Amino acid sequence: MRIVRECAELIATRDAMEESVGFVPTMGALHEGHLSLIRRAREENDRVIVSIFVNPTQFLEGEDLEKYPRKEEADRKICELAGVDLLFMPTPEAIYGADELRIEAPKVRGYILEGASRPGHFDGVLQVVMKLLNLTRPDRAYFGKKDAQQLVLVEQMVRNYFLRTRIVPCEIVRDPDGLALSSRNVYLSPDERRRALAISRSLKRAGKLIQSGVREASAILEAMRGVLEGEVDELEYVAAVDREFRPVERIEPGEAILLVAARVGTTRLIDNLWV
Ligand code: PAF
Repeated sequence: MRIVRECAELIATRDAMEESVGFVPTMGALHEGHLSLIRRAREENDRVIVSIFVNPTQFLEGEDLEKYPRKEEADRKICELAGVDLLFMPTPEAIYGADELRIEAPKVRGYILEGASRPGHFDGVLQVVMKLLNLTRPDRAYFGKKDAQQLVLVEQMVRNYFLRTRIVPCEIVRDPDGLALSSRNVYLSPDERRRALAISRSLKRAGKLIQSGVREASAILEAMRGVLEGEVDELEYVAAVDREFRPVERIEPGEAILLVAARVGTTRLIDNLWV
């Protein structure tokens, strides 16, 4: 596995790859969720590039940029064992210059839900994903459904900017108890982790209601709130949207996403169910 830290070297190495290329962008602290993306990229492409970059522009003032888990050595080993061909680990200075042209998230879809809780977050995500896609020019890039709004916005950016990469949505990976894997789960104390399970339970409850024929989003969201109440410390939102992130009143299977964002202790967690 080749490790590259400079953009010029990445471009030259990528340009020498003649076969198909799969790309998995990450912020490191790799877990089974990332590994599932890497494995899928490995299966579907001749070459696999992974990036590890804790992107400063997607963190808001006061968020956990400084304390975001960094595990360079372990991540390197994980990538090596997973058969990654090229690991890109740039510094912020390699990625960003002064007075840059900025990409902005769409005014509606980029500023509701996650975008309302974290205004500007998706500008930073799209800015760095655009740079990474241009640097790696992958045939396919792999994104988890757990960051549903990010996934939908990246798909939109690829369409709007006529990028050649196919975005591959990948299933959410959960611990056996249901907690969706996230690099931020390491912040949870044992009690917080137990209470955080209400998040996946609320989605499971929603799934059962939908299976039994309930279609009104308000009834389903109410039932989710009922499961979450008294367990999470702050419920930021529960929401039902369609696959384009427009709020829906009726849940049509195959067309909707149910979303939760909540704080447990000081840790902010998100999860969702693609109905
Ligand atoms: O999902 C993430 O880990 C990040 O938002 C991404 C896509 C690597 C961009 O920094």
